[in-house]
Amino acid sequence: MKRQSILRELSVAYAMELETVQNYIAASVNLDGVRSDVIKKALAADVPTELQHAQQLAARIKTIGGIVPGSLALPRGQKSLQPKKDTTDIVAVIKGVIAAEEAAIAQYTKIIRLCDGLDYVTQDLVIQILGGEEDHRREFIGFLKEYEQP
Ligand SMILES: [Fe+2]
Ligand SMILES: [Fe+2]
Repeated sequence: MKRQSILRELSVAYAMELETVQNYIAASVNLDGVRSDVIKKALAADVPTELQHAQQLAARIKTIGGIVPGSLALPRGQKSLQPKKDTTDIVAVIKGVIAAEEAAIAQYTKIIRLCDGLDYVTQDLVIQILGGEEDHRREFIGFLKEYEQP
């Protein structure tokens, strides 16, 4: 049933947000070098935003009759954001962030489509979150442009 798929995909998005929080914290601490400062600060500043997304999704899961999953039920998959051996590899982190934001954008687009004609409040919430993820992606595409310069 469609309502069950909405709940399932909301849980996937919830897991992705929490994994993002974890990996942004790690990158905001792990990076070294004079060029890392801006990126570390941007990632640290995004942590509360992504955490808020997770909280909004959890609240919505509960409202529409679901149960917010515990940590052991949550999948993991952000390969691109795993810490690199070279802690001065800023470009790798920026690319990992862009990949994570792309994945979030794809997941939210999927939920928006699923909700169509069925659950406008979830759809509206997810559209708001999607807008935020698009801003994050834009910000890091800008960073990549500068950091990739020789
Ligand atoms: Fe998010
Ligand atoms: Fe984001």
